[in-house]
Amino acid sequence: MTVEKILLEFDPKPKNILPVLKKINAGFGYVSEKDAQKVADYFLLPLSKIYENASFYDLIKTKRQPPLVIQVCSGANCAVKSAYGVISEIENYLHIKAGDDFNPKVKLEVISCLGQCGSGPVVIVNGNVFTKVTPSSVDDILRNYV
Ligand code: FES
Repeated sequence: MTVEKILLEFDPKPKNILPVLKKINAGFGYVSEKDAQKVADYFLLPLSKIYENASFYDLIKTKRQPPLVIQVCSGANCAVKSAYGVISEIENYLHIKAGDDFNPKVKLEVISCLGQCGSGPVVIVNGNVFTKVTPSSVDDILRNYV
């Protein structure tokens, strides 16, 4: 798969910018500056417009990601069901802090609502979605990844 092949699957209409960015992100793990420029050229838009679209969505990354990326929803529904307890447990388990970009092996992100509020707290580990996560289930989930 190449970015060029992905682009050719879509007409260069504004409504297709997000699907293109999602597909590039899914295929390569992030949207590099070089790839974002290809998207900008294809849609005849400035690079800043492409980054504006990409940065609006938590799930699209513009930097290379570490091998282990954990995302925890902190939307209102997940928050009232102990999402912050889950975040603390993950921080303790991996000896990291949410939001830190310094660890080359793992990153913990607190993200906004994923639209699965009835199943919260929701945790995504390298793209795999876990629902109804509790602080005590963190160990079971993470031991498969570390
Ligand atoms: S608040 Fe977490 S999925 Fe909506």
